[in-house]
Amino acid sequence: MENPARRPIVAGNWKMNGSRPLVDLMQNQLEHADLEHLDVVICPPLPYLGLFKSSVTLGAQNMSHFESGAHTGEVSGSILKEFGCSYVIVGHSERRADNHESNANVALKVAAALNMKLTPILCVGESGSVRDSGKLFTFMAGQIDAVIKQVGIAQFSNIVLAYEPIWAIGTGKTASPAQAQEVHQFLRGHLAKQDPNIAANIKIVYGGSVKGSNAKELFSQKDVDGGLIGGASLDPKDFLSICLAAKQ
Ligand code: PGA
Repeated sequence: MENPARRPIVAGNWKMNGSRPLVDLMQNQLEHADLEHLDVVICPPLPYLGLFKSSVTLGAQNMSHFESGAHTGEVSGSILKEFGCSYVIVGHSERRADNHESNANVALKVAAALNMKLTPILCVGESGSVRDSGKLFTFMAGQIDAVIKQVGIAQFSNIVLAYEPIWAIGTGKTASPAQAQEVHQFLRGHLAKQDPNIAANIKIVYGGSVKGSNAKELFSQKDVDGGLIGGASLDPKDFLSICLAAKQ
């Protein structure tokens, strides 16, 4: 029997893309689709958050670990809550690279999100060179352990984990279902060393060039509970077909 705690989730990460017309199109499409038995989250650029109706579950792509104050250009968890967010992507590889977010920074953001009762979608994933070096699992453990150290293992019951191999993001080079399953199983096993119950119930989603055409096979892997979708989340039709592929 399926584990109800691991009801599938598909999140669309629009990154720095989108438009008012796309907000309307996506809104309309999600309203008319049968999306029972799964969670669908849209993570648009910040100004678009306020344009969605409350029927759409929203996430942000980043947040500050500060609560408020003189941090020009940043956004706090409480502001995100005010604009209807219930999720926030934390530690996306593009932010780790472009904004020099370290494992320690990411851990602080996870803590701040949890504090605001936002569900962090915590992104982890290796570059091609880490994978080639044979240090994949040590690297992944390091990304996870920094967050465990900051918030404690029990808080992972309020976190969604996203495995996003950097070499697969926006490249059209999807991890094979077996490659995705191997890492998801490792992540679950790594958490299980601290708390088997948390590990059994945490949602772990895959991200990296997911499309309507490959979603079903990826999502049918034992430890894959849905997806974090970049490019394809900008195409309402393709995004919907990915969502439907995740339905239990
Ligand atoms: P992609 O991006 O689907 O365009 O590869 C995934 C992500 O970065 O979240």
